[in-house]
Amino acid sequence: MRRKIVAGNWKMNKSLAQGLQLFDDIINSPDHQQTNVLTIIAPSFIHLSAVAEKVKTNPNIAVAAQNCHHLSSGAYTGEVSAEMIKSAGAEYVIIGHSERRLYNNETIDLLIQKVNIALKNKLTPIFCIGENSDERHSNKHLEAIKFQLKDTLFHLSAIDFGKLIIAYEPVWAIGTGVTATSHQAQGMHNFIRAEINKKYGKEISEQITILYGGSCNPQNAKELFSCLDVDGGLIGGSSLKATDFISICNSF
Ligand code: 13P
Repeated sequence: MRRKIVAGNWKMNKSLAQGLQLFDDIINSPDHQQTNVLTIIAPSFIHLSAVAEKVKTNPNIAVAAQNCHHLSSGAYTGEVSAEMIKSAGAEYVIIGHSERRLYNNETIDLLIQKVNIALKNKLTPIFCIGENSDERHSNKHLEAIKFQLKDTLFHLSAIDFGKLIIAYEPVWAIGTGVTATSHQAQGMHNFIRAEINKKYGKEISEQITILYGGSCNPQNAKELFSCLDVDGGLIGGSSLKATDFISICNSF
């Protein structure tokens, strides 16, 4: 059975002290003790090792980086490699977020390299895909997702592909307050699973975790997570307040 996952993407928020406080508020809350859900926190790079130190002995909480560089090391001032992230104690890394594709011009070629280097360093990529609003309105959303999967991930071997977490994040839903309906989310998650089935077979398609992201909040999480092919969420804004985030973790 696929494990339920709720991942909080803090994006560029929280000072070191504020982040550690938020983290403590989440993990120490009596309301956040469920063992059937894996909680993943993706703070900024500066929090990684301090936060990872706190989760060392807790099998229900893990830490993710929000990005990694596509090369292993070298003269790339200001960058952080997959090896560095792993050495800080993180097990996961978000790759392909639409904000990075947009603001940092991350191309397909670059994303392929990032996925490869993350896997090489034994980090689990949480790989984001999602259509923009034009694609959705012109009914090209399925085609857009099909190409994103094929172009950035289908070069992987079945063994490597099976290690991924996919996050479906429709760009029009991120930070807008407009959430995909459960019907839209289930439709797309089911489509993604079907495409994976065609390429890698039933066993892998059934085992792969597919998260929903985009204005997911304590009010709508239950309905979204009740969908058959929605295995949890990748949460932005609502991961910045402990009570909201915990409420989402308890929405299965
Ligand atoms: P919001 O939950 O703020 O819409 O952000 C979603 C997201 O981008 C998570 O990666």
